[in-house]
Amino acid sequence: MKYYLTTPIYYVNAAPHIGHAYTTIAADTIKRWKRMQGYDVVLTSGTDEHGQKIERAAAAAGKTPQQFTDIISAEFQRQWEILGLGIDRFQRTTAANHAAQVQDLFRRCLDNGYIYKGSYSGQYCVFDELYVNDAKAGDPCPECGRPTETVSEENYYFKLSAFQQKLLDLYEKHPDFICPETRRNEVLAFVKQGLSDLSISRTTIKWGIPVPNEDKHVFYVWFDALTAYMSAVAGENLWPADLHLIGKEIVRFHAIYWPAFLMAADLPLPKQIFAHGWLLFENDKMSKSRGNIVRATPIHTVLGTDALRYFLMREVVFGQDGSFSYDALVGRYNSDLANGLGNLASRTLAMIHQYRNGVIPACDGNQQIAQSVQEITAIVMECLDRFEFSKALEGVWSVIGAVDKYIVEQAPWKLAKGGDPEAKRLDEVLYTAAEALRIVTATLAPMLPESAAKIWAQLGFATPLDAVKTADLHWGHLQGGQKLGLAGAVFPRADVKASIEKMMELEKSEVARQMELLGQKPQPDPVAAAAVTASGSPVITIDDFGKVDLRVGLVKDAAAVKGSDKLLHLHVDIGEAEPRSIMAGIAGAYKPEALVGRKVVIVANLAPRKLRGIESQGMIVAASREGDVPVLASFLEDVPVGARLK
Ligand code: MSP
Repeated sequence: MKYYLTTPIYYVNAAPHIGHAYTTIAADTIKRWKRMQGYDVVLTSGTDEHGQKIERAAAAAGKTPQQFTDIISAEFQRQWEILGLGIDRFQRTTAANHAAQVQDLFRRCLDNGYIYKGSYSGQYCVFDELYVNDAKAGDPCPECGRPTETVSEENYYFKLSAFQQKLLDLYEKHPDFICPETRRNEVLAFVKQGLSDLSISRTTIKWGIPVPNEDKHVFYVWFDALTAYMSAVAGENLWPADLHLIGKEIVRFHAIYWPAFLMAADLPLPKQIFAHGWLLFENDKMSKSRGNIVRATPIHTVLGTDALRYFLMREVVFGQDGSFSYDALVGRYNSDLANGLGNLASRTLAMIHQYRNGVIPACDGNQQIAQSVQEITAIVMECLDRFEFSKALEGVWSVIGAVDKYIVEQAPWKLAKGGDPEAKRLDEVLYTAAEALRIVTATLAPMLPESAAKIWAQLGFATPLDAVKTADLHWGHLQGGQKLGLAGAVFPRADVKASIEKMMELEKSEVARQMELLGQKPQPDPVAAAAVTASGSPVITIDDFGKVDLRVGLVKDAAAVKGSDKLLHLHVDIGEAEPRSIMAGIAGAYKPEALVGRKVVIVANLAPRKLRGIESQGMIVAASREGDVPVLASFLEDVPVGARLK
């Protein structure tokens, strides 16, 4: 039985980050789970390399598009290798086999009467490679907010309008075609509004796959990109895909355009599209401009890929948005992996080594524990089938908790001292713990492949964990007499501060390396930009601080402002030709006459603005707590007028 699944093929105008890793890790997890169920699984990933966005990124890097895409595509492949993700086919859209596939899809649609020539004149979003039909010149793109560009061109159009009912029938006949439910409802609502025909070729771009017999036209990137799912397995009898795993922002392309193209070409449709949510950084959207994009490799280096896999699968409800933070990552690692699973493994194996010379005793195990492990494992398997990873992991951890409790209650260390009369009970406790550990480890293999394989070897199995099937998850498969392997810590406890510092440091060098690959100038330090102090304010650099011109000034005069019980109007000498006119909200705390002759601190390079019709050419610095009256900043020693605060 085959199972063919795909990740999106990633754009090469950016280097891989944790968001791309999230989808690919989830795909790898599903692959391993399906393999455990007995499927022959093939997983495709790849890179989306055509279009204006890429053409411009290459030009900015001083490279030809092909040179540029070669570099970044290799970076994605390298990333998946480092993270140990089992990508079976890596499809590049610049590969020769792919162009032929796209042209074939086009011909089929054309022959079936679903393609015609037309023209478009209007706004275009280069970032999303999208015509914005109702926009005027200068309008932002409704998808990403970036400015649109005016274009006018001749195109080939795809008769998407002819597929409205066919698509609605498809969604109705296959309710699981789009998952989760929220995404399905969005798509249904969109399609019900009616579909406009879609331009599938461009004459304004050169970097693309040529439309057959048409010199000037290249294919629209999405017509090109979606077809990569088929090119990757051409001639292999794997199409249609069983699952396209994607992020929620590209549902429309996958759930509307793609099945319509395939129907038009008389080709089989993918069975399911699952859209997961967005990974945020500390609840904020990750973006280049915010400088808060996180890379996966520093986490891999410091805590191991399984720590990242566990965090993503456990912390984020698959299908919904979730937040990443280094604190939460290390917290989960220590509490769930080092203390939870790691502790159960090391204490169980250590006791068998100590009390039974490293040989698993022959026994049936405690029946109550056996039953509860069976019941929970069955639920975990159902969750995995529905891609409910977080719930599945919760289930496994409830088994770990129950077995821990059982061990404490049975106190095998006391039984060991009881000699022969207690030997049988001790055997039962040791077998129960080891068998539960075996089932937990095998169940976790899709989520934590590397660590589970280590525990597996420590349990003494010679057969690889990859060969384990769901049928092996039954209680009692562990044979007495099995000799344990060498023990060793699988999840050494992480020092929170040191490991976060290390990850942030590696993140900096990873960003610099990726920027160089992309031919871009270094950005402001992303970690500093994302970090906040204990009081919650963003961390700034010394250069940021240097931009604020703070000066010592002498108040020459001060007066109340008509109609305002808060504002005073001051003239402050900071050593310039004329004193500055400054409005200050300190009337509640100071009488005007008390200020004259007093030295104050002002922000001298604040853009001037008018308050109550009077121009304020700076701001007085005062301290206050929420609700308190302000207290002016001042000096104990005398400071000359105009002195700068540094
Ligand atoms: N090239 C298109 C996809 C074509 S598929 C035929 C594309 N590429 S992309 O590089 O922008 O990758 C988008 C995908 O990366 C998302 O759908 C998602 O799978 C993943 N993610 C990128 N950033 C992400 C987050 N911050 N959070 C979660 N996933 C994100 O769109």
